[in-house]
Order: sequence, then C-alpha cells, then structure tokens
Amino acid sequence: MKVAIIGGGPAGLYAAILLKKQRPSADIAVYERNRADDTFGFGVVFSDATLDNFEKHDLPSYRRITQEFAYWDDIAVHFRGTVHRVGGNGFCGCSRQTLLLILQERARELGVVLHFEVDIEDESRFADADLVLIADGINSRFREKYVDHFQPEVDLRSNKFAWMGSTRPLDAFTFIFQETDWGPFIAHAYQYEAGHSTWIFETDPETFERAGLTGLNETQSAARMADIFGWFLDGHKLLTNRSMWRNFPMIRSKRWVKDNMVLLGDAKASAHFSIGSGTKLAMEDAIALAEAMERAPSIQAALEVCEHGRREEVEKTQHAADVSLVWFEHVDRFWEFDPVQFAFGVMTRSKAITYDNLKLRAPDFVAEVEKSFARQVRSNGFDVNTDRPMVPLFQPFRLREMEVANRAVVSPMCMYSAKEGVPSDFHLVHYGSRAIGGAGLIFTEMTCVSRDARITPGCAGLWNDEQETAWRRIVDFVHANSATKICLQLGHAGRKGATKLMWDGIDRPLDEGGWEVFSASPLPYFPDSQVPRELDRAGMNAVRDSFVAAAERGECCGFDMLELHCAHGYLLASFISPLTNTRSDDYGGSLANRLRFPLEVFEALRAVWPKHKPMSVRISATDWADGGITGDDAVAIARAFAEAGVDLVDVSTGQTVRDAQPVYGRMFQTSFSDQVRNEARVATMCVGNITTADQANTILAAGRADLVALGRPHLVDPFFTMKAAAWYGADGAFCPPQYLPGKDQIFRNSVRERQDIEELRIKAKPRTRAELKAAATKPLAAE
Ligand SMILES: Cc1cc2nc3c(=O)[nH]c(=O)nc-3n(C[C@H](O)[C@H](O)[C@H](O)COP(=O)(O)OP(=O)(O)OC[C@H]3O[C@@H](n4cnc5c(N)ncnc54)[C@H](O)[C@@H]3O)c2cc1C
Ligand SMILES: Cc1cc2nc3c(=O)[nH]c(=O)nc-3n(C[C@H](O)[C@H](O)[C@H](O)COP(=O)(O)O)c2cc1C
Repeated sequence: MKVAIIGGGPAGLYAAILLKKQRPSADIAVYERNRADDTFGFGVVFSDATLDNFEKHDLPSYRRITQEFAYWDDIAVHFRGTVHRVGGNGFCGCSRQTLLLILQERARELGVVLHFEVDIEDESRFADADLVLIADGINSRFREKYVDHFQPEVDLRSNKFAWMGSTRPLDAFTFIFQETDWGPFIAHAYQYEAGHSTWIFETDPETFERAGLTGLNETQSAARMADIFGWFLDGHKLLTNRSMWRNFPMIRSKRWVKDNMVLLGDAKASAHFSIGSGTKLAMEDAIALAEAMERAPSIQAALEVCEHGRREEVEKTQHAADVSLVWFEHVDRFWEFDPVQFAFGVMTRSKAITYDNLKLRAPDFVAEVEKSFARQVRSNGFDVNTDRPMVPLFQPFRLREMEVANRAVVSPMCMYSAKEGVPSDFHLVHYGSRAIGGAGLIFTEMTCVSRDARITPGCAGLWNDEQETAWRRIVDFVHANSATKICLQLGHAGRKGATKLMWDGIDRPLDEGGWEVFSASPLPYFPDSQVPRELDRAGMNAVRDSFVAAAERGECCGFDMLELHCAHGYLLASFISPLTNTRSDDYGGSLANRLRFPLEVFEALRAVWPKHKPMSVRISATDWADGGITGDDAVAIARAFAEAGVDLVDVSTGQTVRDAQPVYGRMFQTSFSDQVRNEARVATMCVGNITTADQANTILAAGRADLVALGRPHLVDPFFTMKAAAWYGADGAFCPPQYLPGKDQIFRNSVRERQDIEELRIKAKPRTRAELKAAATKPLAAE
C-alpha cells in the first residue's frame, strides 16, 4: 500500500507513525514544505486524558513526549489585582518544536520517508497512491482547491490574537485579564519547558485599534504587550516567531473525504486556542484514521468510518471551543463582577466544569464563591449567613415586594387538560404538589386571555368567572400549604392557535372544531396550517383589552406575579420576529416598530397590575433561523421592556418557524440569558435542558441568570427542590408539617450519601501526572 501525506505537522506525522506500525510493508511518505527543525509557535498543551490516549496508541513516542513535558495542576486567574488558583486540572505542555522532532524521529525509526522543503502544489503527483492524507493545516491549499466538494465554513472571529513566547516561568495555566486605557487585554499563558512559556494575547478589535497595534510590526507589538503585562513578566522578555496579530478562523467542513483523499487536523476543523485543543484534535484525528484502517475492509470504507465515527467528537470539542471563545469575546460583560465570581465564570465558561465538580477539587475557592454570592444577597437586604452560606440555589431573591425563598422555578408548561379553559382537579394537584415540592416560584401554564387565544381546546384560560374561581382555588392552596410564590403567565396563541393537543400532534391544525386565528402577518405555521388573519388596529385593541381583563382577574385570584408571554411564535412573538412580521405599517419593519404592540400590551398590563407586584416577559432570544431574532436583538428587546417596567426577562428561544436549526445541549439557552442579563443589565431567568441542581448552581454562581427554571424535570419530579435542599443541606427549606418526618429522613440520609459519593469520587480519581511527578520528586524525608 502507498500512502502520501501532505503536511508534516502533528496530524500528518502521527498518522504516518500509526499507519506504518499497522502496515510495516506500506510505502508511507510525508511531504513538508518547511525544514525539519523550523517551527512556528511555541508550546502545545495536552490534558492528562489526551496523554492516556497517546499512551495506548504509541508507547515509544508517548514516553519521549512525556519526558519532555512541563506539568501543572492549577489554573490561575488574575483579575483586578486578585489571583484565584484552582487545582486538580491535570494538564501538561511541551515545545511544539520538540513534539515535531520526536514525531519525526519516531516516524523515521519505523521506516516512514520524510521529505522536507517540498511544497506540494498539485496532488496529481500522487496518482499512484492508495491513500492521500491532506494534513496541510488551517489554511489548507487542498481544502480550498476542492472547496465545492469539502464545503468548508470559515467563521473569522472578531477578536485579534497573537502567539508569543517568554522566558517567564509559570507554575499554573495562567489567565491574566488586564485593564488598560484602551480597553481589556487577555493573556493565556503556560510553561512548556524549563524557562519557556507560551503567551497568547487577545483583545477586541476596538481595543486593538485604540492601542495603535494596527501599524506596529512584530517587535513593536511585542514591546507594547511587554509594557501592558510588564508587572507580571517580571523582567522577562517576550519572544516572537511569526507572531502576527490575526483573527481566529473557526473552520468546519461539511465533507472530509474526496475519493482516496481525507482532510486531517486543522485542515478540516479548527478549535479555538482558549481550550488548547488544536494539536490534540490533530493527533486524535490520526488515531481515528488508523483505527478505521485497522477494522474496515477497504480504504474507501475506512475513510467513511473515520469521517462518520469521528465527526461527533470533533463537533463536541468545537462546540466547547465556540462557547469558550464567545466568553472571551464578551469578557467586558463581566468586568464589574466580584473577582471571585469572575474567576468562577472563567472556570465554568465552556460548561464542562460545574459547581459540584469544582467544589470537590477546589473547596476553598468554591467556599469563597459562595461567600461572595451571599454577600451580594445580604447587600440586597436579606439577613443571610455570609460565613457559612447556603449554595446560590438556596439564596433568596426579591422582585419588587415579592420574595422567593430559593431560585428554583417551575417553568410554565401547558397541561392541555382544561375544559373550556377551566383548570380542573388535575391542575390543583399538579400545581399544588409542585408548590409543596419546594420550588421558590411556580409559573402557570400559558393561560389564554380569550377563547380564540387558546392554542388547543385543552388550554387553560382566564376570561370568565368560572375560570377565575378555579384559579383562585389553586392559588389559595399554594399560599396555604407552601412558601412558594405563583406567577400567572398570560398569552395569546396567534397563528399557532386552533391546533391539536400535544399528544395528538403538536402545532398541527385541528381536524374539526377549530376557530379563526390571527397573527402579525398572514403567514401559516405549517404550509397546511390555517392562514391567519392579519391583526388590524381594532383587533389589537380587543386583544390588548382581553389581556388587561385577564390580568385584573389574576389579581382577584391572588397571583403574586404576572408574566406576559412574548415567545415561541405566539401572537405577541409573531410581531417581534421579522420572520413572522412582514407588515408595512407602524407595527412592522424596524425592531422598534415590531415591538410597538407587545410593549403597548405590556404597558397596559403594568398600569393595572399592582405596583408592588413584579412582572416578567418571556422572549425567544433567538429564532435559530437566518434573518430571525439574534442574541443582540434580544438585548435590545430586553432593554425596551425594562424601560417599560419589566422586572425579570424570562429567556427562552425558538419555536418561531418550522425550519429553525436550534443547537441543543446541556443548558443550551443559558448563553442568551447571560447576554441579556449582563448587557441589558436586567434580571433574568434561564431555562432549557437544565436538569440538575449542580447545573443551576453553576449558572447562578457565574452570574449568568438570577433564577433558574426547570420544565421537564419538574414534570416527573415535583420534589426536585426539596431533594436538592437535602443534598446541599439547605435545612431552612419550607416543608408542610404533614411531611416533616420525610424531610428529616431525606436530610439525614442525603448528607451521608453525599459524603460517601464524594469520597468515592475522590478515591476513583486517578492522580494527575503533575501529582505523580511531584510525589516522585519529593525528597524521601518529606514523605
Ligand atoms: C503560527 C502558529 C502558531 C501556533 N502555535 C501554537 C502553539 O504554540 N501551541 C499550540 O497548541 N498550537 C499552536 N498552533 C495551532 C496548532 O499548531 C494546530 O492546531 C495544530 O498544529 C494542527 O496540526 P496540523 O498537523 O493539522 O496542522 P499544522 O501543525 O499547521 O501542520 C501543517 C503542516 O503542513 C505544512 N504544509 C502546508 N501546506 C503544505 C504544502 N502545500 N506542502 C507541504 N507542506 C505543507 C505546513 O508547513 C505545516 O507544517 C499554532 C498555529 C499557528 C498557525
Ligand atoms: C409539555 C410542555 C408544555 C409547555 N408549555 C409552555 C407554556 O405554556 N408556556 C411557556 O412559556 N413555555 C412552555 N413550555 C416550555 C417550557 O417552559 C420550557 O421553556 C422548556 O420545556 C425548556 O425547559 P426544560 O428543558 O427544563 O423542559 C412547555 C414545555 C413543555 C415540555
């Protein structure tokens, strides 16, 4: 078999090694345009888990690599004169040049032929090769040559960065967030061998301009960075090596394989440097290819297996990189944060590390985070313990005069079980049990303001006395038997009305018994849905008045809070999104126009809703569709509602149009809550695939939301909050007297269970290489 490899970076060399080991008789050659000992960049970084993978696949190169590595466990965050160190991270760094020399040496030993200073212009010279690996890096010539086939998507990010080096020794992966007169600069730095460290500097394009970096050459810009970070460099120099400022390209290719050619490493997909995974991805691509070649019956089959089998893993890493890079691009959002909360945000930015996880490995750091959070709560007038504080989820919160005992919320969820809009015994038990279960706040399902405002025939409403009586019974029960507050969510289905019950076909039009539906514009939801009538001014008045009448009834029922539903493509949302609003009057066109009617309804409600009671608005912060609402629009929408008197923005997303492309995942809407809260400076509630109290604490402690709503988890577990309280020992949690013996038992058992689980986790955790190395080098007397 003949294999030609274009590019002698980590991907190309490691693939050559693994394939040659597998097929010693194969003719494998690597073509590299640089000299053998040329290198651009300084160090590379691997996690312990990545090294474990290398150990499994090629022991000799693993041994040589790990002999050369600098190890560290801590991440240090420098911000506004403070430094927070978090241990247990298990990383190591090595010089990129050393890595390449080790891989070259190992490849040669195995019989791979290495050609240096050969720039491949055209792959036709490999016409007789069975397999051609395109490992020519981020600016891949061959990916571009076959751009129509590989279909790469190149997203050039806004921040500027430059890769430099220094002789400054470092004993931790170090982030420095530096304020300057021009704006914020960030350094990502780590040591990769004795006396050498990598320094990646990053800043936003405006700060870059203001700092005058545009016109500077490499040496001058290094001098400017040395000025800014001089206090930390401690007399050490900054070194350059093609250290030009660039914008990071996030690359994703739709196809990786063409005939007998396959893209590997940066050529096919890149991952932002802030998660340090570029070289890891490149070498793991080589592993995936070698594994596929071992098992598949033909080269073609192997390439397909490699592409399909590896894509998910690569996309997961890229998603984590995306989330991380966005955090750094928007670091100014958090600049006013308490430094320990800021550091917690750095640690948990890509969602891989959570509250409980950090508490195990850095208990002192998390204790500080808890205290800082409690101090903020105390400064808002709550008499909470700041020496031994409760976790954030069990810290109280206030909106106007409404206080909630904890920050767990039951999200609004239609039960599709009302008759003629009247909530039944099912609703009493449903809401009653969730209140007894301990959530600080529960939302009603979308409660419709008129008969024709319903989504389905099973939707609850509040337009007549019978409904008012039924809701009052529920509210009274909640108030009499729990400490939970209850919020009424009012909505109008718009074009999604007259549809089937969820379990009969969500959003599908009723076969019979439907009613006429309205929307901002006459656009049906499904092609075969009813075409809605465009709401005229008289219709708007009627809708607004029915919202006001329902709110007045809500007050008579005793609800503690009122939410206006402006999300998910229903009537008010249909005005806000340009995808559903094509009007040419004062209610269409610009965002200000599209917001006019929803704001008018909100203001009318605010005028009748008691001043001491809070109001929220639920929005779709993105439509997940081209041309639709984006996170930036959501900030403008939140600001407009905040000016009109909203106390909380309930940040949901999507459900506007059928062809949306949501990116699901754990806590997938949290970044929008974060953006709205920290750019519009308004309190937010986040929701969406948040399933554990650990995740809720992570979100709250990082300042990404003020309240956390859980929908589906509460459908199967009304006692979610009580169980979480027991887990964290929040024994002030309310419990009705009838259930106290149960509470006593779960609190007793949970403390023990938690200790057992934590001990098991600590025991099961392998020692990091840094710990092993430290133990091995410790003098005997110190053992
Ligand atoms: C300037 C720079 C500095 C970097 N510094 C660091 C760092 O300090 N730490 C870190 O972790 N990551 C660093 N990276 C990123 C990291 O190197 C990549 O994520 C990783 O190397 C990807 O490996 P690869 O083999 O896919 O590509 P590369 O390492 O880019 O290797 C591709 C190779 O192909 C060669 N090549 C390209 N075209 C041809 C051709 N037509 N013919 C022959 N040869 C060709 C190139 O010369 C190169 O050696 C740096 C990247 C750049 C561009
Ligand atoms: C069965 C069901 C009914 C829902 N009904 C409503 C509703 O009436 N009003 C609303 O704003 N959101 C509604 N939602 C959305 C939820 O409030 C929540 O935003 C969504 O389920 C995501 O949160 P989760 O991942 O915790 O379930 C509903 C969701 C489900 C699953």
